[in-house]
This record gives sequence, structure tokens and C-alpha cells, in this order.
Amino acid sequence: MKRILITGASSGIGMHLCNSYLLAGWHVIACGRSMQKLQDAMPSDHNELTLCTFDINQPTQAIETLKQFDSLDCVILNAGTCEYMDDPLSFDSALFKRVIETNVIGTGYCLEGVIGNIKRGGQLAIVSSSVTLLPLTRSEAYGASKAALDYLARTLAIDLSPKDIAVSLIRPGFVDTALTQKNTFSMPGIITGEQACKYIMRGLEKRKLEINFPRLFFFTMNLLAFLPNKLWRQLAIKMIRTP
Ligand SMILES: NC(=O)c1ccc[n+]([C@@H]2O[C@H](COP(=O)([O-])OP(=O)(O)OC[C@H]3O[C@@H](n4cnc5c(N)ncnc54)[C@H](OP(=O)(O)O)[C@@H]3O)[C@@H](O)[C@H]2O)c1
Repeated sequence: MKRILITGASSGIGMHLCNSYLLAGWHVIACGRSMQKLQDAMPSDHNELTLCTFDINQPTQAIETLKQFDSLDCVILNAGTCEYMDDPLSFDSALFKRVIETNVIGTGYCLEGVIGNIKRGGQLAIVSSSVTLLPLTRSEAYGASKAALDYLARTLAIDLSPKDIAVSLIRPGFVDTALTQKNTFSMPGIITGEQACKYIMRGLEKRKLEINFPRLFFFTMNLLAFLPNKLWRQLAIKMIRTP
């Protein structure tokens, strides 16, 4: 039986992935910060489900907990957070640190714990965001953290290739989860957690280097990214000025 480990399993995309891989007959190691939240999110008494708690910001806890899970066919590092920078003139370095620590440094701790336990022929996936395609308003911290993950995943894809481990960079558009439910702006092309999960599972099955979705949103963002910088900046500034 194939074994998959998923972080950020207590809600949203991670929760849907765990449930879908269980249905597909995998053994799932679902990781989160709170046992109660994990139990609420997962089926009770499933023989092929292991629940595991740690905070990805606590290095010893994260690394030592993850080291115990060997022979993994797939690992999805999905846990993450998003906070927006409201006032660029009073740059909130505490917010910046929180987001970078969880999304980038926390992913590093997880990698140290888990990377040596991925089987030859196995897979590693890192959940970034389509925010990295373009500089988006108020996303100084979140965008910077996810851009770091893009580079990390692409570099690992090169370095893990001789070890026969495939790396996937997952870049969702807007997905309806706890993370986006607090947004007060309109989210074009928003999809459900179930839809996101289908895109991810399909992409991982094909061992794709990049899993970008939904397609129309990704296409539009790419098109905008092709605009000359000056034009895109004018457009973005116009958007933040429009109430
Ligand atoms: N939703 C979107 O539109 C969207 C778009 C692009 C990328 N993403 C990325 O997708 C991933 C999943 O997000 P989501 O939308 O499913 O949001 P979510 O429902 O808020 O899920 C985030 C998960 O990460 C966990 N987490 C956060 N900080 C943690 C920490 N310090 N230690 C351990 N676990 C921690 C949360 O655990 P708790 O329940 O304990 O907080 C939760 O399980 C994130 O990396 C996010 O950046 C989401």
C-alpha cells in the first residue's frame, strides 16, 4: 500500500487531499497542529489513517516527529499561512517574519525531517501559490514567502532527480478555504477545495513539475505577466485606487 504524508491536514486543501487519498486506497499520515482539529477533519477509526501533530515553527518538534515516518511514496508540504500588509508606510516586520517563518522556514524544518524518508521513485510536492506570477497588492510578505518556495522546489527538482525523487511545485489560484474566507476583496475564478484536490492529484499522478490551476485563472495571470512592467504597474495601481 502506498504511503503519503500531508501537512496542513486540519482544514482546506490539505484536509481534502487526505480524505481523497484515503478513498483512493493510500495510507495517509495527516499532520496538523491540533489533534482535535485533525480528528474533526478526518474520518474516525480509519485503519489506514495516522494522525500526527506538530507545529512547523518548532524545529525540534517538527523534525523529530517527521523523522519517524519512513518509506514514503509521496509527501505534500502544504501547511501555510497568509497575512496581508495593510499599510506599506508602516512596514510590519513582525507580520513579515511570521509569514516567512511559517511558509519558508517551517517548510525547511519539514524537509529536514522528511526528505530522507522518501522512497526512491517517490514524490515531493510543495504548495506555493499563483501569487508568484505577478506582484499583487498587499502581498509583500505572502508573495515573497511563496516566491522563495518556487525557487526551493525548482532547485530540489534538479538535486533530487539523481535520487529518483520527483518534485512538484503546486500553484493554486483562489480556493475556498479558511485562508481565503477572511478575504474581503473579490477572488476571480475561485474554486472549491474538492476541485483543487482533483487538480493536485491528477498533476501528481503525472509527476508534473508544475501543477498550476485553475487553468483559465492561470492563463490570465500569465497573460498579464507578459505585459511590459510599466503597463502592469499602472494597471495594478489603478486597481488599488478603485474602491
Ligand atoms: N486557499 C487558497 O486560495 C490558496 C491559494 C494558493 C495557495 N494556497 C496555499 O495552500 C496551502 C493550504 O492553505 P488552505 O487554503 O487550505 O488554508 P487553511 O484551510 O487555512 O489550511 C492551512 C493549514 O496549514 C496549517 N498550518 C498553518 N500554520 C501552521 C503551523 N505553524 N504548523 C502546522 N500547521 C500549520 C493549518 O493548521 P491549523 O488548522 O492548526 O491552523 C491548516 O491545516 C497554504 O500553503 C496556502 O498558502 C492556498
